[in-house]
Amino acid sequence: MKQIERIGVSLDKELLSMFDKLIAGRGYPSRSEAIRDLIRRQLSSERLENPQAGAVAAVCLVYDHHSTKLMERITHLQHSHILQTISSIHIHLDEHDCLEVIVLRGQVGEINNVAEKILSLKGVKLGRINLVATESV
Ligand code: NI
Repeated sequence: MKQIERIGVSLDKELLSMFDKLIAGRGYPSRSEAIRDLIRRQLSSERLENPQAGAVAAVCLVYDHHSTKLMERITHLQHSHILQTISSIHIHLDEHDCLEVIVLRGQVGEINNVAEKILSLKGVKLGRINLVATESV
């Protein structure tokens, strides 16, 4: 079991009041939980600046499935980066558009490389990469 240490933090009243409003709006049960989350988020974002750091990513893209050969190209890219591609889901949004979520794992640099190749394909209307750092490199 992890050891817990207690720390005291000095803040001016105004800053603390703004922090309390922020965490109440987000639904945190306590200041401690909110501070732990902020620290984890900052550490994760620092790790993501290292191209060799381990990470997972959800790459979301919206495209028109009538676009010539686009689905085939998206599938081909996933097969050519099989070590990084963990999974994908496909949702038919309406008669034209599809949402695809591709989950990638690997080093930050590799993930960004594969994701950029997918998102820059002609016919992709919207795309977003959501990276999360993992503990192991
Ligand atoms: Ni579809």
